[in-house]
Amino acid sequence: MCSIIGYIGDEPAAPVLVKGLKRMEYRGYDSVGVATFSGNQISIRKGVGKVMEVNNRVKLDTLSGTVGIGHTRWATHGGVTDINAHPHPSSSGNIAIVHNGIIENYVELKKELQEKEYTFKSETDSEVIANLLQYNFDQTKEIKKSVMQTVSKFKGNFAFVAVFENGTLAAARFHEPLIVGIRKDGYFVSSDVLGFIEYTDEVIYPDNRECLIINSSGIQMFDFDGNQVQHQITKISKELADTYKGDYAHFTLKEISEQPVTIMRAGENTKLELDLLTEFVKHAKNLYVTGSGTSYNAALVAKHLLSKYAKIKIEPIISSEVQFSSNYFDHQSILIALSQSGESADVLEAVNIAKKDGAKIISITNIMTSSLVHASSISVGLNCGPEIGVAATKSFTSQLAILYKITDKLCEGRIGLDFGKVSEVMKTIISDHSKIKEIAKKLKDISDIYVLGRGIHYPIALEASLKLKELIYIHAEGLPGGELKHGPLALMDSSVYVIIINPNDSTYVDTLSSAHEIKARGAKIIGISDKPNDVYDYWIEIPSINEALYPLIEIIPVQLLSYYAALEKNTDPDYPRNLAKSVTVK
Ligand code: F6R
Repeated sequence: MCSIIGYIGDEPAAPVLVKGLKRMEYRGYDSVGVATFSGNQISIRKGVGKVMEVNNRVKLDTLSGTVGIGHTRWATHGGVTDINAHPHPSSSGNIAIVHNGIIENYVELKKELQEKEYTFKSETDSEVIANLLQYNFDQTKEIKKSVMQTVSKFKGNFAFVAVFENGTLAAARFHEPLIVGIRKDGYFVSSDVLGFIEYTDEVIYPDNRECLIINSSGIQMFDFDGNQVQHQITKISKELADTYKGDYAHFTLKEISEQPVTIMRAGENTKLELDLLTEFVKHAKNLYVTGSGTSYNAALVAKHLLSKYAKIKIEPIISSEVQFSSNYFDHQSILIALSQSGESADVLEAVNIAKKDGAKIISITNIMTSSLVHASSISVGLNCGPEIGVAATKSFTSQLAILYKITDKLCEGRIGLDFGKVSEVMKTIISDHSKIKEIAKKLKDISDIYVLGRGIHYPIALEASLKLKELIYIHAEGLPGGELKHGPLALMDSSVYVIIINPNDSTYVDTLSSAHEIKARGAKIIGISDKPNDVYDYWIEIPSINEALYPLIEIIPVQLLSYYAALEKNTDPDYPRNLAKSVTVK
């Protein structure tokens, strides 16, 4: 999604902003731009492409001035073009803005402004912010009034930063993230602490419906009604700074490799909350779990775990579907929201609907300062450190680790949870991946792959197919083994590869017979199992482990396979095309 950043201080702003934008690259984007204020005027440079490509082309970081704003765009309104890239100036050029979110009523506002002779160059919804601010400033000559009048007109979600003609920065947030970084000699405003982490670890988190104005005399914060607000300065964990690849070629590989450690840390930062969550689950009358993408796949695992081991019923719902189904929630409901980022618009909307209907919200997230945490009664931390690779890897196994901890408590240890052992097994799979690398070469030229699993391994098959889609852009589909003969068998021929998730547990025999049915139709079989079998054309060996724990480890070979196949295909594993890390629009 879009990232915004503003800086005001003693240093040249442009290089600071470009560095911040580079750090926030992981959020996903298609264009980038910077505006600075210097010598009483605002200068803008921007274009389509990656931060460093655009910087090489238009020298974003050589703009002069110690005040500026920057943006990475993920197109929603208007194509991916240089003109549509942010920052957008007002028609007089005296104000420029960067925006994350969607202004839903921009068409009406644009028309009204055009009637007042404010002109527009782009096809974006965002440009209306620049011109409406300009209009209100022209009327009031006061920055605070112009910001408040502007935000009062918007429908939709937004966070924006504006630079005014006198070098003042103004910003506002409504259901989109915005964080202030404080330094002895200046301030940052950004969508993500990673935008300024190397300069300061002191931050303020403005609430929803708040604005701020920063100039050489300091910062003022107020709510949308104009009341002054104050917030405590918080120190953010140094660990957030851990966003370098180190010796790894890609963040995705680094994050896959961190899993033996990150599963051990899941929930450790919120032990009390984890205990509370467990108690709520135990006593809940109506229990639901929601998430999008990978987080939804984790929700599906939750259903299997809780019903099999704790005899507790929980209903998983895809977050984006909640709005279309009525009467899920009441005062006796608990909704567990799973989200790595805590900012997915679909998840936040599901939570809002559930809250309105009286449900209690419990979240499991990696970002303890996210909007989801603000919307929840209790939040448990994944605690797995920043996940930069757009495709979720370590956050998935950390979500599972927390779900396992909850289930283990509820069934009084019947699972036989042993994270030490899981971690050891993960290490073995990760260190001994030469075979996976070889198999990855075969996936380079195929267009269809299926991943098959039964029972609790079916959600893992769904997650595996999501990784293959995201990283190698092929048609990948997760299938429950038993459904094969009810349709998908018609698709099997010699051009197809099928990954069979087949650990030696109660699903083993049935899954093996599915493998035989597929093999008989000529498809190639990649077996992920602790037991070899002739039916596999390629066998990826996983160590044997306690039956309940296979789901925690069996996704790793497919994460690695997808990663190495992406390298073979020359796609960028960290930043898959068209995707964003944090999907803050619906
Ligand atoms: C998959 C992936 C996405 C996210 C989804 C939800 O690899 O990254 O499918 O899982 O967008 O994101 P969060 O968990 O941040 O709500």
